[in-house]
Amino acid sequence: MAPKGPQSAAEEQARIEILDPTQWPLLRELRLRSLSHTGTLLDGVREAEAALPPSHWQELLATSVFWQAGVDDSPVGTARYTPQAGYGHGGSLWVDPQGRTRGLARRLMLTMIDHSRRRGDSDLRGQVIPANRPAVRLFRSVGAVPTGWLKPRTNPPHILRIEMSIPL
Ligand SMILES: CC(C)(COP(=O)(O)OP(=O)(O)OC[C@H]1O[C@@H](n2cnc3c(N)ncnc32)[C@H](O)[C@@H]1OP(=O)(O)O)[C@@H](O)C(=O)NCCC(=O)NCCS
Repeated sequence: MAPKGPQSAAEEQARIEILDPTQWPLLRELRLRSLSHTGTLLDGVREAEAALPPSHWQELLATSVFWQAGVDDSPVGTARYTPQAGYGHGGSLWVDPQGRTRGLARRLMLTMIDHSRRRGDSDLRGQVIPANRPAVRLFRSVGAVPTGWLKPRTNPPHILRIEMSIPL
């Protein structure tokens, strides 16, 4: 068998784990990290979210499922699943710049899809900015199609998001 390259080795080392309710400080840390790296790609303002109380993060963990992708015990990525009426919503998909292009976002996306399918959802939906090439490519590669839903973001509002749906 051919020796494995560093990319596949890194993928194998990565663990995808659900955050439990006690891990809200880690959720907060990862979210704030993601907002410092992503410019306008994620819909949030780091300074505003940094000021939110513990109850905000505890509430998020009570109403959504969050996964972290960890490499060598260091968290490098997140994904969030929120149940809606009949379908699932996927969001907060983020991989630290140092962990990118190794397939971690794909693994997080497949984890969300599997979770949504097991719950009996009709489809898993997510929102993406059309200019976000890696994200659009990832959505398309798992069979996502635009729903026609188009909406200004909360911040900044001049950027439009499109909604993509992955049939399950
Ligand atoms: C989008 C993001 C999560 C991708 O993470 P990643 O771990 O590098 O992604 P993967 O390695 O799993 O690759 C996913 C797909 O994106 C493609 N891709 C990755 N980086 C790319 C780049 N810079 N340009 C074009 N395509 C790229 C990969 O080729 C792959 O395509 P495929 O599914 O056709 O094989 C990451 O870039 C990120 O965190 N960006 C900032 C936050 C963000 O935009 N989140 C998504 C909001 S919807």
